[in-house]
Amino acid sequence: MRQKLAAGNWKMHGLAADLAAIDALRAANPAPACEVVICPPATLLARMAERLKRSPYCLGGQDCHVAAKGAHTGDIAATMLADAGASFVILGHSERRADHGETSAVVAAKARAARAAGLVPIICIGETEAERDGGRTLQVLSDQLATSLPDGTDAPLVVAYEPVWAIGTGRTPSPAQIAEAHGHLRSQLARHLGAGPAAAVRLLYGGSVKPANAAAIFAVAEVDGALVGGASLAAADFGAIIASLDAAG
Ligand code: PGA
Repeated sequence: MRQKLAAGNWKMHGLAADLAAIDALRAANPAPACEVVICPPATLLARMAERLKRSPYCLGGQDCHVAAKGAHTGDIAATMLADAGASFVILGHSERRADHGETSAVVAAKARAARAAGLVPIICIGETEAERDGGRTLQVLSDQLATSLPDGTDAPLVVAYEPVWAIGTGRTPSPAQIAEAHGHLRSQLARHLGAGPAAAVRLLYGGSVKPANAAAIFAVAEVDGALVGGASLAAADFGAIIASLDAAG
């Protein structure tokens, strides 16, 4: 039985004053049945860790370097995220693939570094609108998954299906399209990892998840939770999404 997971990706949002949103979130959802991870910008990691202490909420980073340390100005190592209190890290988000030219091979190397530091990688993959319109969605997902996965089958892993065209746009795939993508990813995971380890991987949907569409998305087979961007910044919205995930059982 996979525990459901709600991950909030704050992206490049959040100043010290915004940490108060977490208190409101915790007050409204003091004991979620699902796992909740908050991924703030690096500047807030330590203060967020302090804020999340003695709560069921976890901390995550938004990226890490492939190396454990070294001369890489401006980068952050997985060991540093773990040292700051993180237990997850988002890797290969489409914004990093687009803004920083991250390839799937780099994502796989980052996932290896994350695991070496004891972090659970949340590996993001997803098709562009042109790829979907061209009927290539499943092939793109197969290719990205195969090349982004780290070696090894015994450590926890999360994969987020995030159609690029659904991120920050207010548009989402239909439940049937999400079901098709997640079913495909589950069978591809079984090919790469074997049936047992594949069954343990949590598959998140990400892209314009809001309180209004969360229940319909969480009702889809093989959806184990969500990676939430914009709606994770407002405590009321993220709280409602968490409640929706809990209600989906
Ligand atoms: P969004 O972002 O919820 O704002 O669409 C999701 C994501 O990029 O992880």
